[in-house]
Amino acid sequence: MSELRLSVPKMVTELPGRKSKELLKLREENVPGGVSYGIPTFIKRGEGAMFEDVDGNIMMDFAGGLGVLNIGYSHPEVVEVVKEQCEKFFHTSINIIQYEQYIRLAEKLNRLVPGDFKKKTMLVNSGAEANENAIKIARRYTGRSEIVTFTGAFHGRTSLTMALTSKVKPYKFGFGPFSAGIHRAEFPYIYRRPKGISEENAVKYFVEKLRNFFLEEVNLEEVAAIIIEPVQGEGGFITAPMEYVKELRKVCDENGILLICDEVQSGYCRTGRMFACDYWAEHGIYTDIMTSAKSIAGGLPLSAVTARAEIIESSQAGGIGGTYCGNPVAATAALKVIEIMERDNFADKANHIADIAMNRLNEMKEKYEIIGDVRGLGAMMAIELVKDQETKEPAKDEIKEIIKECNKQGLVVLDAGVRGNNIRFLMPLVITDEQLNFGLDIIENAIVKVCESVYSCC
Ligand SMILES: Cc1ncc(COP(=O)(O)O)c(C=O)c1O
Repeated sequence: MSELRLSVPKMVTELPGRKSKELLKLREENVPGGVSYGIPTFIKRGEGAMFEDVDGNIMMDFAGGLGVLNIGYSHPEVVEVVKEQCEKFFHTSINIIQYEQYIRLAEKLNRLVPGDFKKKTMLVNSGAEANENAIKIARRYTGRSEIVTFTGAFHGRTSLTMALTSKVKPYKFGFGPFSAGIHRAEFPYIYRRPKGISEENAVKYFVEKLRNFFLEEVNLEEVAAIIIEPVQGEGGFITAPMEYVKELRKVCDENGILLICDEVQSGYCRTGRMFACDYWAEHGIYTDIMTSAKSIAGGLPLSAVTARAEIIESSQAGGIGGTYCGNPVAATAALKVIEIMERDNFADKANHIADIAMNRLNEMKEKYEIIGDVRGLGAMMAIELVKDQETKEPAKDEIKEIIKECNKQGLVVLDAGVRGNNIRFLMPLVITDEQLNFGLDIIENAIVKVCESVYSCC
């Protein structure tokens, strides 16, 4: 195995190094600032959970390309099949000349997505595009127009998905007017439940709020679908409690509404199951439509909409799809990614990472006042940072400093949440125990350093 794959961070320059600085200048001149960047460095090559930048710094990636690299950078078996496919053909479009990989991947997803009923899958290019199609299909099938989404939701940046998304800045500000027919219910964010409501009563409180929502906001008979992330991603890695999901399923069943599960960030073993909605299935709850993307193809652009056959069959031919949808190279990569994930039990790897990391993060919570909440499902984990445990005032400035400090020490981490005060962990699931602990050490050191400088103590 190569050195980089098993290495730990080693910084030889400050960030940005000389070459990165030159490229950043070029970027500034040629790329709009609206395309944001988190860390001032340029990658040269990546392996597993590690990458080397153009200045020779060896860094560790806890952001996983925004949740795309569950399989890790440059998995040798994926690289091999992609190379082979590239030599045969890049593209034909499934709408014209057929190719086997599209069909095989659809077959695989129809088997993997939970539910002992007939399913069909269409392939598209991005998470947003998958969600757009899910909404189109739900409207077409039900003949209804209204859609229910949630506070804290993130479903994409296209016109329709921006309307579904919750965070105003940066995702929506100045980009309106937004698509009609979207209604926002309150997501059961247990940590931020109203004061005076105990944790045990919080789910009941949010269920009651949902019932009122359907009295006050939108008529159930007009609702085509409810779209929910089983674990909110950009919203701050907040898991929808099972009792709440049961209520959603009940509302859907009683009123002819479809349940859409957005697994774009939570899918492909991140949560300790192939999909987070596998946990729902363990309680007898199934989604009608499931969207997935990001880690599906190890970094090549691909996404999927998998649904009950009679629902997804409601569209007329040509009504759904697009030129690049289900690209053969990406579909080839996805087939290999899923094969490896099943064969090497990536769901267990996620649970193993969670065992180590949740322990360490909970220990840190005991030591450092700034950590208000530690939460997660499998290896989809986050810490919420607050200035005060009682008021829960978000520690937004501190988090920026902690992230910068981590970057300096060779670790890439991401924030999350409507208030921007969570650190989320999306490390590749191939990370070694040594690397994981090394990364967690960096985080702990950064917390201590920033707390010392801001509060003179922790
Ligand atoms: C849950 C969820 N849905 C949809 C999207 C949008 O995916 P994409 O950026 O591929 O359009 C994201 C992206 O972060 C996401 O986390």
